[in-house]
Amino acid sequence: MVKEFKENFIFGVSTASYQIEGATAEDGRSPSIWDVFCKTPGKVYGSHNGDIACDHYHRYKEDVELMAGIGINAYRFSISWSRIFPEKGKYNPKGMEFYKKLINELNEKGIKPVVTLYHWDSPIWVYKMGGWLNRDSVKWFKEYAVKVFEELNDSVKLWITHNEPFCASIFSYYEGMHAPGHKNLREALIVAHHILLSHGAAVEDFRKFNFKDSKIGITLNLTPSYPASSSKEDIKAAFRSDGYSIRWFLDPVFKASYPEDMKEVYKEFIDGFDFVSDGDLRKISIRNDFLGVNYYSRELIEFSQDSELKFRKIHGNFERTEMDWEIVPESLYDLIIRLRKEYTRIPIYITENGAAFNDRITKDGKVHDNKRIDYLEDHLKKVVELNQKGADIRGYFLWSLMDNFEWQHGYSKRFGIIYVNYETQERILKDSAIWYKDLIKKRIIE
Ligand code: FCB
Repeated sequence: MVKEFKENFIFGVSTASYQIEGATAEDGRSPSIWDVFCKTPGKVYGSHNGDIACDHYHRYKEDVELMAGIGINAYRFSISWSRIFPEKGKYNPKGMEFYKKLINELNEKGIKPVVTLYHWDSPIWVYKMGGWLNRDSVKWFKEYAVKVFEELNDSVKLWITHNEPFCASIFSYYEGMHAPGHKNLREALIVAHHILLSHGAAVEDFRKFNFKDSKIGITLNLTPSYPASSSKEDIKAAFRSDGYSIRWFLDPVFKASYPEDMKEVYKEFIDGFDFVSDGDLRKISIRNDFLGVNYYSRELIEFSQDSELKFRKIHGNFERTEMDWEIVPESLYDLIIRLRKEYTRIPIYITENGAAFNDRITKDGKVHDNKRIDYLEDHLKKVVELNQKGADIRGYFLWSLMDNFEWQHGYSKRFGIIYVNYETQERILKDSAIWYKDLIKKRIIE
């Protein structure tokens, strides 16, 4: 069956500052927690770091040109907080200039800029003052957000406060996989709370400006948990995993509460929730104009006596990407239906979706990434089907425009539709880029 996208449906691509910009010591930028994490032995694959990355800071014009060539409608990127405020209270116009130039370039080419304020690269000065563990981080973030709104609002109409608070909190402060690499559950929950609170604070300030036609929201990574069997234990384990990664974030944002069952679970490990003050949840659940959903995969969960929270991930029979993530477009479908039923009717953007594969340049000088094309096509089909059912998904941002620094995996995982040769910084359009170009033009998936 032919599946058609509406005329105003946005086909975009996503990136993030630390993953592509490089130029980490230029024009007054101060280090972020990721600069430090990368230099800590054993944290990042091959001791890779973002010092140069895709050198996008210097090659942004060429990159925008490539996007224009593909016909991309919108570009979601993030701002490096430590370029804008390299020190507490010290605004750096030079750092802002880069984003102004990038945004100009995009607008000139008719590509909508979509700005994420926080994609994990917290300035090191913030970290040294306690980072997101310090409730004052909410104030610091607010100051940064307001400055960015003031400077860029004329030319940016879609705003995202945070990218994946789950990763910036649980993954970074409990599982220790991301910067700053702590392993403390109480810390992780405090960080999550302050990040959510800073979202509420930033949206509140945004509303005060009364910007015309500008919209703001938050991006959550929503990886659904499915029970590995029909046993009571596995069902309970999957529900707990769902609470851990999904409901702990969706509930405060849309229901002004933390899930009671998870509070019970966490009480065993932490002494209370004194970091949640009266009125916080009201602030966190401020109205959003849209919800950003990052979806890559689902998780199959079973009960595990050995794990602290009594659940663990296992693999099912689905094919997997280079990240070892199962390819399950159906669960994107189920997820959106669930969001509509249980949480919200506001517009949704898929702010990330994509796949890493072991891409190689072949003798013909090309990259034939057919598996990626299949992945993208199968997920986009679900998006059309969902919209036909009234899901109101307004756009799709493919992760990623180009291969980049994939956090703890360094440069070993390639997600781009553009291949990057990290030695020469040459960019090569993969077959998936050509496929995307064709799709954007036709707006039809057969
Ligand atoms: C998401 C991140 C993004 C990228 C993709 C693969 O969790 O938001 O930066 O690393 O995963």
